Amino acid sequence: MNIAVIGTGYVGLVSGVCFSEIGNQVICVDNNESKVEMLNEGIVPIYEPGLKELMSSNMQAGKLSFTSNIGEAIHQSDIIFIAVGTPSLPNGEANLSYVEQVAVEIGTHLESYKIIVTKSTVPVGTNDRIRDLIRSISSQPFDVASVPEFLREGSAIKDTLNPDRIVIGTSSERAIQTLKKLHRPLTNNLVITDIRSAEMIKYASNAFLATKISFINEISNICEKVGADVTRVAEGMGYDKRIGSSFLKAGIGYGGSCFPKDTQALIQIAGMVDYDFRLLKSVVEVNQDQRMQVIHKLEEAVGSLTGKTIAVWGLAFKPDTDDVRDAPAIDIVQHLVDSGAYVKAYDPIATENFRKEIDMASISWQDTPLHAAQGADALCVLTEWKEFAQVDLHVLAQMMKEPVMIDGRNVYSAEQIQMSAFQYYSVGRPGLTKLEGKAQAII
Ligand SMILES: NC(=O)c1ccc[n+]([C@@H]2O[C@H](COP(=O)([O-])OP(=O)(O)OC[C@H]3O[C@@H](n4cnc5c(N)ncnc54)[C@H](O)[C@@H]3O)[C@@H](O)[C@H]2O)c1
Repeated sequence: MNIAVIGTGYVGLVSGVCFSEIGNQVICVDNNESKVEMLNEGIVPIYEPGLKELMSSNMQAGKLSFTSNIGEAIHQSDIIFIAVGTPSLPNGEANLSYVEQVAVEIGTHLESYKIIVTKSTVPVGTNDRIRDLIRSISSQPFDVASVPEFLREGSAIKDTLNPDRIVIGTSSERAIQTLKKLHRPLTNNLVITDIRSAEMIKYASNAFLATKISFINEISNICEKVGADVTRVAEGMGYDKRIGSSFLKAGIGYGGSCFPKDTQALIQIAGMVDYDFRLLKSVVEVNQDQRMQVIHKLEEAVGSLTGKTIAVWGLAFKPDTDDVRDAPAIDIVQHLVDSGAYVKAYDPIATENFRKEIDMASISWQDTPLHAAQGADALCVLTEWKEFAQVDLHVLAQMMKEPVMIDGRNVYSAEQIQMSAFQYYSVGRPGLTKLEGKAQAII
């Protein structure tokens, strides 16, 4: 099939590459001309494991190309995917201006029947608005469908080529048949539904996953007080098929370009129909508080942060991505700087993106984890990059001014810590922290 994908970000680029991989002719569009130039030279502008190789091979096979000319792409295609960003507005609502701009451009260039598919995460009713916008500009025939995206950064290729399900929301039988045919090589698990349900499935899924994370984080906070180990609690819960083990890893809260904005957007969507989504509001509040647990533990360990040197390992919102959008590290590093600390930061991939968010004289950017830790009063681990687990804790402790670690991701095992000299604070594992004595006293 001939496909256009508009927007070559984390979703659009991966989708375009994967659609070409399964035998389609794909043209990817972006209005950022320097990005298109890079892509045409075979340079991948984001870090995503496996993407570069797959992109190159499909470009070489002549199945994948890039352009900033949206008219040309629409003209060549039967199916047009919209995959532009829907970031948060200051009040939490989704900013639909990019999606609407694309809809207008599609309407302007339509010259024969097309299926217009929204992959971007959009509030319920947006696809109806897209249809109305295009209809107000063009008299050409077209259908609209919502096919929300569920890929995860860091495993985006695998998720796209082996999805748990594909949701297809549309009222058009013709669109259903074509989209079924397109997605069949990826999975047989197709959920065919109406547009509004498809739009809601995406928000409900992300809100539910965020709820699981905030739930286990609250359990971890209680574990610290009662002397239980949240990793064992989560393991014991996860074997229950009704619960499942995923998204039960306690830490410093969720971040990234999806959960924070999509939870806020769903609260707004509910609010617009006079529904107070109290549960989700709490999930968001718990998540924000969880980021600050790192600071509370740090202050407990080293006292005032003024004038202290704090090493920070991990800036990306999760491992295997360079994405720092709404990463917990942003709030935590900002707080450290505001408290008068000197920060030595290290991330294997995301430093450049992070510096666009915060760059101050009191932060230095380090090229190895050990350089970051050298001479530090304490170390905060904020992302569970694999290389951190492999560091020799004995060497690390010796390099630091004080062997104090706040492990926000439970990277290290009890054995590793007990063999080390570290004063160690993790998440929900009080047996390993200085809180142990207090916990026993409570019980
Ligand atoms: N990133 C994820 O993990 C993920 C997962 C599932 C769903 N989503 C959703 O997918 C959508 C895209 O997310 P993303 O992370 O890929 O965004 P992104 O910001 O990485 O990419 C968006 C791209 O669209 C381009 N663009 C903007 N306006 C355009 C226009 N008028 N014409 C052509 N190109 C235009 C931008 O230049 C950019 O390259 C969002 O709605 C997001 O919520 C994201």
